[in-house]
Amino acid sequence: MADYYYFFLKNVLVVSLAMNMGLIWKISYEDEETLIPKWGNILHLHGSGLYAQKNNRVQEEEKEAHVSKRTQILATTSSGVATDGLEKVVINLDHGDPTMYEDFWKQKGEETTVVTSSWQHISYFSDVKNVCWFLEPGLVSAITGLHKAVGNAVTEGRHIVVGTGSSQLYQAALYALSPPDGSGPMNVVSAAPFYSSYPLMTDYLKSGLHKWAGDAYEFNKEEPYIELVTSPNNPDGFTRQHVVKGDKGILIHDLAYYWPQYTPILSPADYDIMLFTVSKSTGHAGSRIGWAIVKDREIAKKMTTFIEINTIGVSKESQIRAAKILQAVSKSCNHANQEAQTNFFDYSYKLMAERWKRIREAVNKTMLFSLPSFPLETCSFSGRTFGQLPAFAWLKCEGEVDDCESFLRRHNVLTRGGKHFGASMKYVRASMLSREREFKLFTERLPAIKS
Ligand SMILES: Cc1ncc(COP(=O)(O)O)c(C=O)c1O
Repeated sequence: MADYYYFFLKNVLVVSLAMNMGLIWKISYEDEETLIPKWGNILHLHGSGLYAQKNNRVQEEEKEAHVSKRTQILATTSSGVATDGLEKVVINLDHGDPTMYEDFWKQKGEETTVVTSSWQHISYFSDVKNVCWFLEPGLVSAITGLHKAVGNAVTEGRHIVVGTGSSQLYQAALYALSPPDGSGPMNVVSAAPFYSSYPLMTDYLKSGLHKWAGDAYEFNKEEPYIELVTSPNNPDGFTRQHVVKGDKGILIHDLAYYWPQYTPILSPADYDIMLFTVSKSTGHAGSRIGWAIVKDREIAKKMTTFIEINTIGVSKESQIRAAKILQAVSKSCNHANQEAQTNFFDYSYKLMAERWKRIREAVNKTMLFSLPSFPLETCSFSGRTFGQLPAFAWLKCEGEVDDCESFLRRHNVLTRGGKHFGASMKYVRASMLSREREFKLFTERLPAIKS
């Protein structure tokens, strides 16, 4: 009897294992074959929608996402993507994940490969003589070399502070600029439409030092304030100047997109605090490296203190990888080298220009949508004359549609609605930086939408 019982249990175990393996295989297979990311993971990536927003939006989006996940599988054939049923494929353009440069970096191979041994980069410290003591010297020269080659920022006589993405530097700057003994939290404003992460990052710890005070155009208090100037702007791509008229303001310039694939470079930016990131310049968002160029030594010191308290520095491996990549970009910009290799900004400019041509053609085929237009200017880096080629399409639903995000969602296109940027829901932001297959589907889907 005992033998029989043991035999029975063993069989049940084997059958159950086989069933579970089948289920796991099925789930991962479906995820690979769809263009639908794993919802919890990807919808709320940075650049993107995150933090506090997450709870509401995850709940809101998961409701619909679960339906799509089960039903919308992208059928593929041996020759690539099949054309049947493509309208059911969910295209996620909600986040600004810069995967479009992947092919360029694949060609770079060895030149940008970094190998580290277990005995290297063990210390917390990089250069104790520097204000930012965890900043790798190799990254400093890569950053200054690239700004010099492109001509988009002044670095001479400035302090560089490295951060885990420019997101950490944004918070470090708020900490450094908000007086610890002020009569109340410092107002933080930015002109609408503003980058949707600013309000979230400003308020998520409910700091006593600073608070989000909304659209800079509407700020008229006789109180100190910090104004964020994002140029070119996320979400709409326009070049910007500060807008608050008061004299009690301090400016932070977020120049994440001040690179020649997105905008004509007009002159080297020369502001008190400028934020840059590899996420949007070279497309290496996963390395999480940003840098601040800061005029005032005391501000640079306070920003460094914030990062010291927050994360005791920034990953050395990431800094070294970023340095290698920035050096490769600078080298590719060197005119003497142009025959031997592709200039990264030439490559990325052509890609952006081609995508903008395609999306404008798609939008022109329908009366339902419109896109902003931009003035032509001459780029001092490339000598080309062109209008902005933003990393996001700031798409407007024309006519009756008041909620463009929900409207597009019904057509399986995920974007971020205007309200997240302090703007009307007639607008959405759609990423222009996705992989080609998503972008292609998007430009095919838009003109096919009838109502
Ligand atoms: C204007 C702007 N600033 C900062 C960031 C964040 O960059 P990072 O990935 O370096 O944190 C983004 C990302 O989308 C952005 O659009």
